[in-house]
Amino acid sequence: MRCYLLAFLLCMVLSFLSLLYVFSQLASTLEDTDGWAAREHGIRDRSSHESGRLLRKMPGLAGLPDRGEGLDSERVDSSVKKHSDERSHLAVVACGSRLEETLTMLKSAVLFSKKPLHFYVFAEEELHNSFRDALKSWPRVVQAQFNFTIYHITFPKENEKEWKKLFKPCASQRLFLPLILKEVDSLLYVDTDILFLQPVEHIWALLTQFNSSQLAAMAPEHEEPRIGWYNRFARHPYYGKTGINSGVMLMNMTRFREKFFKNDMTAAALQWEEILMPLFQKYKLNITWGDQDLLNIIFHHNPESLYVFPCQWNYRPDHCIYGSNCKQAEQEGVFILHGNRGVYHDDKQPAFRAVYEAIQKYPFGENMETSLLQPLEASLQTTTHTYCGRSSHLFTKRLKQSITSVQQDITKRR
Ligand SMILES: *[C@@H]1O[C@H](CO)[C@@H](O)[C@H](O)[C@H]1NC(C)=O
Ligand SMILES: *[C@@H]1O[C@H](CO)[C@@H](O)[C@H](O)[C@H]1NC(C)=O
Ligand SMILES: *[C@@H]1O[C@H](CO)[C@@H](O)[C@H](O)[C@H]1NC(C)=O
Ligand SMILES: *[C@@H]1O[C@H](CO)[C@@H](O)[C@H](O)[C@H]1NC(C)=O
Repeated sequence: MRCYLLAFLLCMVLSFLSLLYVFSQLASTLEDTDGWAAREHGIRDRSSHESGRLLRKMPGLAGLPDRGEGLDSERVDSSVKKHSDERSHLAVVACGSRLEETLTMLKSAVLFSKKPLHFYVFAEEELHNSFRDALKSWPRVVQAQFNFTIYHITFPKENEKEWKKLFKPCASQRLFLPLILKEVDSLLYVDTDILFLQPVEHIWALLTQFNSSQLAAMAPEHEEPRIGWYNRFARHPYYGKTGINSGVMLMNMTRFREKFFKNDMTAAALQWEEILMPLFQKYKLNITWGDQDLLNIIFHHNPESLYVFPCQWNYRPDHCIYGSNCKQAEQEGVFILHGNRGVYHDDKQPAFRAVYEAIQKYPFGENMETSLLQPLEASLQTTTHTYCGRSSHLFTKRLKQSITSVQQDITKRR
């Protein structure tokens, strides 16, 4: 009897093992077809995205599938990336009355860039249609240079409720970009009050200069410690001598998602999605400039992760308001202008306002030398009673080269 039982058990074990073998074979073939399916899916996505673009042009459907669209295009992005992506990916967060200012920033991006662009516009619901209509109203040749995706102001799905309780949505959106745009490798985040005075691909190229531990690039908050804010007033740690300004922030988001960040809350290093909430809880009573302060705290503890670019990549009134203190801009001109503190819209810094208005008023398709540069130089002449006005040749130094280069391309094509 025992002998039969043993034989029976042996049979069971053997048939179980052979079943296992069959399953594992099956599984591996299934995996293969899955791979194929995914690849085909990727290709199909691209065409469905295109039809999405067509649909969007019909007014009635315009507002609907924003978030979905975004996901689609991200999937396209990753499939395109494999054949070396030459686009610059540019993100902005626009709330309240920032529509016109944001459009002028995007305009400056397309005017001087020669490589294709992708815009990621995070905006309040009310602004979505205006953004879409404005961008779709630009001339066809200009539209051919870029694609765009419009997003709701949003938090990562995990812990969405807690995020919402803690963070002012518009102000802190940029912190969440690596977690929201999961399929995007790298991104240039800029404030709405940025103006590009040279092609976007030039700052984009700095990504390739990152060493293996760097994942973000920003400019110092100040050149001159005597008038610096962080070193005089901050009640929290900050990066370097004077802190960093996050108005122009280049990010390798793949590395943000992979990195474990050192911090002063736990002995263990934390991932990006884990660090933001406890950091905010700890410092919320001590921070003044919101998310920029959080970035300063993080890079204080992880200085090897930051690539610091010089001030001409993020040139603010602080660089000229009491006299010129951005040495690199004196040599090479301003690359990116940052009109913070509302200077594009009041009379405090007329030189900044002059650049904004010249770009805003320039009609697409006109000669940039006669319809942008010359009017700008004329209006800068009227600002020499201010310190920044006296430095305003720096505002046009690089811009002139950008314009000459674009105009030459146009003449060549004719
Ligand atoms: C925009 O997207 C379309 C469709 O996916 C693509 O054919 C085109 O090359 C893209 N343009 C740019 C500038 O990336
Ligand atoms: C970002 O970092 C990842 C991981 O190190 C790397 O594979 C990728 O090429 C980087 N992206 C760019 C644009 O340099
Ligand atoms: C916040 O600021 C106060 C006053 O300067 C300081 O005593 C406190 O340690 C700070 N809190 C943190 C978490 O650094
Ligand atoms: C990358 O550069 C930063 C800044 O110069 C430096 O602190 C860091 O040690 C470098 N990392 C590597 C791996 O060389």
